[in-house]
Parts: sequence; structure tokens; C-alpha cells
Amino acid sequence: MVSPPSGFDGQAVPVSPGRRLLRPDFVWGVSTSSYQIEGAAREDGRGPSIWDGFSHQPGRIANGDTGDVACDHYHRYAEDIALMREMGVGAYRFSVAWPRVLPEGRGIANERGIAFYDRLVDGLLAAGIEPWVCLYHWDLPQALQDRGGWAERDSANWFADYARLVASRLGDRVKRFATFNEPGVFTLFGYAFGWHPPAVDDAAQHHAAIHHVNLAHGAAIDVLRAYLPGVSLGTICNMQPVRPVDPTPADCAAAALLDDYWNRAFADPQIRGAYPAVLAERIAPFVQDGDMERIRRPIDWLGINHYSPIYARADAGSRLGFAWSDAPAEVPRSPIGWQIDPDAFRNTLLDACDRYRLPIYVTENGAGAEESGDAAGAVNDVERIDYLSRYLDALEEAVLLGADVRGYFVWSLLDNFEWGAGYANRFGLVRVDYPTQRRIPKASARWYKATIAAQVRGSVP
Ligand code: FCB
Repeated sequence: MVSPPSGFDGQAVPVSPGRRLLRPDFVWGVSTSSYQIEGAAREDGRGPSIWDGFSHQPGRIANGDTGDVACDHYHRYAEDIALMREMGVGAYRFSVAWPRVLPEGRGIANERGIAFYDRLVDGLLAAGIEPWVCLYHWDLPQALQDRGGWAERDSANWFADYARLVASRLGDRVKRFATFNEPGVFTLFGYAFGWHPPAVDDAAQHHAAIHHVNLAHGAAIDVLRAYLPGVSLGTICNMQPVRPVDPTPADCAAAALLDDYWNRAFADPQIRGAYPAVLAERIAPFVQDGDMERIRRPIDWLGINHYSPIYARADAGSRLGFAWSDAPAEVPRSPIGWQIDPDAFRNTLLDACDRYRLPIYVTENGAGAEESGDAAGAVNDVERIDYLSRYLDALEEAVLLGADVRGYFVWSLLDNFEWGAGYANRFGLVRVDYPTQRRIPKASARWYKATIAAQVRGSVP
């Protein structure tokens, strides 16, 4: 085991109350994703993903950043496990990079890539941290994009085969799997707005992609169940209230539509067996007999990623019938401009519990900032601590009102590659000094450690 990182001992620990309303087995975790932290983009046989090509295109990512090196987690994973251990987290949610284990997306497995996840999982278990594996956090193998990506119906079979490989190699030690991370985001941004790869702007491909991702989810759940009886399976969706920027009928209609695409296009068919009405019409050309049964497979939990409410306005010129809007000027915001509204979080949890009737894990919540460290790299991120405390208060309120919330994962363990915003936008509990790759726990890391410790102590009878 790598020696414990500095930055925890001898530092003032912000006071954190025990969270007595939470279950004794409440899961405290942190989340990351492969492309955002691993780096080693061309090492040990990894194939290119759609994010490699996209991030290298001029003008796509702020500051021309790419995930080539990222947090170099591929080489520094042991140090990162030691950080989590020091923080006292019980679970680590990460994603497998599909092109690292299957460079062509299908066919021959890359043993050196698989060996990395073996080392990571073994290291986590040795540190007493439960691995939560997400199969897809947006880094589709480029070779599969060249075959049509998610707009191609066969993508469901590619994904099921990939799920079988991961199950067969990691399933002896990993007991928690999720299929997709935030399909509402990567389909909308990738196929309708062109902000993420494959940077398509085409309504037909977008609707096809939604349906095929849902089919891929169902197919992967079947594979995981067949190979790994007893394993705990979930889906991870972004869920946030969508508000009209003005309360006009047109903006309200736009918000309702974005709500369907953002919040319901995946959880509804996967858990309830039907698309929202407007989407059902738009997706109908891609639906074949038996598809809705293929999509709605029993799962054990719903993962919810939540940061803030979002806003929509009518836009007659847009193909989908809505446009994004900034939050109204008067709302409280985080340093990167995202609205802070813990009540919206509480209500999202209550609504999701009511609508989907599954145990909920909050698989992402956190606050971004364009922050810098002091001369020693230390970051006194009081705004992040305030955000996280208030959102945990809201989570507790939801539990008090009957929501079955069983865990909470902070996004993110480390500062990392924040997609289009590159490295300027930092979400970590731990600062990464990119030129040296030094990890420096922020005040929020000490606060999270104290929060977990207080709750664990508090729950002992
Ligand atoms: C979510 C993504 C995650 C990260 C956070 C800030 O939408 O799932 O990868 O970028 O936002």
C-alpha cells in the first residue's frame, strides 16, 4: 500500500454534524470517470475513443485541453486509492474505458488494459473500498463510431458483448455495476447540439441513439444477470428540474419537452416500460416489436446525478423545439455559474422515489470552481463545503419525508478533465497540480472525512 498522502494530518478539520437520519449502511463514496482522469491515452494497447479525436480538434475544448494525460490516474491509481482510504470513503465509482479493454470496440480483448482494472479493483478491495463499476461514461471506441455509433441498432449487441467481457473479468470481485452514465446528456449533447462527440446535429440520429442506448442497457442487464447472479445492478441518470426561463406558455412547453429528453427518456422506458408521450412519437420509427420488453429489465437501484436546476426557452428555429437558457440573473450561483438550490435536490429525490420506486443512490453531486491553490497548493474551498453541506441537509430532508436514499457519491475525488471546459473547471475534493501531478487534499476533503466519520460513529448503536 502506498503511504498515506499529506494534507489530512495536522490540518484544521471543518466541523461536520453526524447525519443521524441516514441508514447505518449508508454508502459514502466518490465518483470519477475514465476519460476524465486516466490519461495514458495511447498506452498498453488502448484504442482511441470518440473523446480523443474530438478533444484534439481545434476549438472544441477550452484552452485546447485534451484527456491525453489528465490526472495520470493510470499510473497513480495506488496513490489515489490511498487518498480515498484516508478520507474514509466506503465506495468508489469509476468507469471502465471501453477502448482500453476492447481497442476496436469488439473482437479481441486487450489484456494489458484489463490488467489495469484488475490492479485497481484489487487495490480498492485491499483498502476496504467497494468498487462500483460504470460501463459507459461517454468514451465510445472510435472504431464503433466509424460503424455508426449509437445511431446504429447493432450498438446494443456491441455493448452487450463488452458487458460480458467486463463481467467475466471483474465480476468475481465487483458486486455493483451500472450500465450508462447520464445517457440524457451524451445523446442530447452528442447528437442534437453537437457540443460533444460525435458532434452530430440530426434529429433522426438523435432519436435512434436514444432508443439504441436503451436497448443496450437492457441487453447488458440481461448479460450481467446471466453471468453474475446476485450482483447489484443499476442505471445512472441525470435528474434536475427543468424550468421555463419565463412563465409564458411557450417557454413552459419548451421546459416540458427538455424535461422529457433530459430526465425521462431513459429512466422511464428502463424502469416503467414506456417513453414519455411526445418522445414515443418521435422515436416510433426506430422501435421494433418486443423492444420495450427488451429495455425494461429488472434493476436493483437508480443512480441519480444532480447539480442544479436547468432552464429552457422556446426556440421556433430549433429542431427539437427548445433551447437552453441561462438561469435568471437573480438566482444564487456557484463560482462556475451553476444555480445553487438544495430544495430542488430534495424535490428531485422525492419525485424520483415516487415515480420509479427503486432504492436511490446519489451517484454524483458536487461544485465546480475555477480555483487556485496558495503558494503550497492548499485550497480552502469554503464555498464547496457550504454547497455540499446544504445538499446533504436536503438529502436528509428527503429521507425524513420518506425517500429511500441509500448512498451519496461526491463528484469528484480529483480535479479532472471537465469535458468542454477542460481543466480550468475544478470539481475535486483533492486538488491536482497538473504540471507536477501532485495531489493536494482541499479543506473539503477533510470536511468529507469528518462527515463520514461522524456518521459512522453516530450509527453505531
Ligand atoms: C456530469 C458528468 C461528470 C462531470 C460532472 C460535473 O454531468 O457525469 O462526468 O462532468 O457532470
